[in-house]
Amino acid sequence: MKGIVLAGGKGTRLYPMTKAVSKQILPLYDKPMIYYSISTLLLAGIKEILIISTPRDLPMFKELLGDGSRIGVKFEYAEQKEARGLAEAFVIGEDFIGDDDVCLILGDNIFFGNGMTTILNEAQKNLDGAVIFGYQVADPKSYGVVEFDESGHVLSLEEKPDNPKSNYAIPGLYFFNNDVINISKQVQPSGRGELEITSINIEYMKQHKLDVKILPRGIAWLDTGTTKNLLEASSFVQTVQTRQNLYVGCLEEIAYRRGFIDAEQLLTLGQELHKTDYGQYLISLAKGVIQ
Ligand code: DAU
Repeated sequence: MKGIVLAGGKGTRLYPMTKAVSKQILPLYDKPMIYYSISTLLLAGIKEILIISTPRDLPMFKELLGDGSRIGVKFEYAEQKEARGLAEAFVIGEDFIGDDDVCLILGDNIFFGNGMTTILNEAQKNLDGAVIFGYQVADPKSYGVVEFDESGHVLSLEEKPDNPKSNYAIPGLYFFNNDVINISKQVQPSGRGELEITSINIEYMKQHKLDVKILPRGIAWLDTGTTKNLLEASSFVQTVQTRQNLYVGCLEEIAYRRGFIDAEQLLTLGQELHKTDYGQYLISLAKGVIQ
């Protein structure tokens, strides 16, 4: 399974904050936003990750993340010249994906909670089509929306409907088999002129190969769409980290816990950042002070 983080777009809804920098590089409490989406891929056990962003912002992500070897993974990079839509990720990523299955996560989507690793493992098991998720929200109008019947069978998928048929939004985390490359090439621009991920999901639905899993209430899917959402997400991370002294979205920690790096490597990474709480946290983990 390969992973793609889509971290392009203009971020116009967050201007002026994002006029000169990428939205996905903005801090969420103590780390750049993109850390959280990468952490979800690492939790899924995915070690080969393509980061797609704009020609302007890609160099910044390269500087931030490097080739991944420091945390035992492989990062590659590709440009999306214009924000033509999410479905273009698989056209841009065709060579990178090769013959594999692929998981796409949007660089501004943050997942956290008990059971997330199990959910990610289940989604990959015997993947024969697409696995996407449904998450109950108060107002689904600004998302992809999925409608079910009583037995959980998918009836419809709509992108940003004016009159949503359910309260289940589709988060920006998608598992696809290799067919997604060919399907994405057939996608036509929507009414708002974008190559929609929802069009890909509808195609899988037509082929009876779409599985929608409901994310339970114990999982937090955080929104970063507005400045208010950003502040709330930062506060959420701060609250969890301060209370438990366990970090959310810490790439080095996940790499260590999953065995991508050993305690000695983790210690070195921590010592480089020793002036920060983040570095001290890594050092405590490496020394076994935090379990
Ligand atoms: O967050 C989940 C939602 O993400 C889904 O429910 C929707 O079905 C899906 O279309 C998407 O909706 P958004 O309105 O959030 O998409 P947005 O245009 O904001 O793009 C999401 C992220 O992807 C954002 O960080 C920018 C990046 N992006 C977007 C486009 C259109 C790109 O990297 N390239 C693009 O071409």
